Amino acid sequence: MRKRVRHGGRSVATVVSATAMAVALVVTLAGCGQEARGGSRYQPEGGKGATVGLAMPTKSSERWIADGENMAESFEEAGYQTDLQYADDKVENQIAQVENMITQGHALLVVAAVDGAALTNVLEQAEQQGTQVIAYDRLIMGTEHVDAYASFDNERVGRLQGQYIVDALELEQNPNETFNIELFAGSPDDNNTQFFWNGAMSALRPYMESGQLEVGSGQTRMNQATTLRWDGGTAQRRMDDLLSRHYGNAEVDAVLSPYDGISLGIISALRSSGYGGANQPYPIVTGQDAELASVKSINAGQQRQTVFKDTRKLADRAVQIADALLTGGEPEFNNTTDYDNGPKVVPAYLLDPVSIDESNTQLLVDEGYYTAGQIG
Ligand code: GAL
Repeated sequence: MRKRVRHGGRSVATVVSATAMAVALVVTLAGCGQEARGGSRYQPEGGKGATVGLAMPTKSSERWIADGENMAESFEEAGYQTDLQYADDKVENQIAQVENMITQGHALLVVAAVDGAALTNVLEQAEQQGTQVIAYDRLIMGTEHVDAYASFDNERVGRLQGQYIVDALELEQNPNETFNIELFAGSPDDNNTQFFWNGAMSALRPYMESGQLEVGSGQTRMNQATTLRWDGGTAQRRMDDLLSRHYGNAEVDAVLSPYDGISLGIISALRSSGYGGANQPYPIVTGQDAELASVKSINAGQQRQTVFKDTRKLADRAVQIADALLTGGEPEFNNTTDYDNGPKVVPAYLLDPVSIDESNTQLLVDEGYYTAGQIG
């Protein structure tokens, strides 16, 4: 496992203190009900020692496990208590978890949304309680009750994927050669999906327009390519279908995949259809997250590329923003224009993603993300 990941167990003291806080909250609210209904809102106790709720989407992907545990560790090191919850990728679970965190009086929530547009109502309650909210990795849409956004440069993630295909097929150097490509997009309810798609298309579209890249299935629109909840099995079924319907007598040369879990599903479908042997190499398949199974797949010559987003750095950034918000400081942002969620342009801090292929998987070892033995 990665160095900083650890399993964040809740201590009895945390539970006791959360219960005490909830009681205090009820008492305080009873005392200032007038204020809570009027404009001046109740503020849960901020500052060091406050409890931070960490609402993560799923444990089915190792990145979210690492995100949650790294944040729990860093928050605790910074003097906060934490309440880490996973929603099993179910919208209703996440709403219930967030509601519960607000009711318990947590001072701040860090939320990686299952469905970016489904939290509008529950975040009204956060506003009423004075609970601050940081959108983590995925922007929360349709509400002004989001104080900050911590993520990676999502457009750039997509550009790294698209450009990898352009470079690997040497499209610029060989303008007369044509290739077949298929396109996959992320979950339609995740705001990142459009950014990844736009970035990838900015690299691929010129070659699709010139005819150098042909989408064999004709499915060139994002809404034809999305993969609900980023599910690898769903992607595998779509790839099976594309291969059997459109590639009877042709080969696919590249597959744009936005995420490693999807890439592995695509590669399984390709393998079942005869790719991966000496006479029929795998097409170029991209990815994202540098998940261990995909890094191994890259080193084994199957998946060709992934995008490394160091979840430890993102966790640290979220903790820095939260610490500033909770102690009356000024959080640092580096993008205050691009992340408009409808009612609000949410101030963001974006980190840099890094493209990984077989030539630089060693970087993941040098950075301490994996050990050499793990990725070998
Ligand atoms: C996105 C995230 C990606 C990937 C994907 C599936 O929101 O930015 O890094 O993890 O979800 O989990």
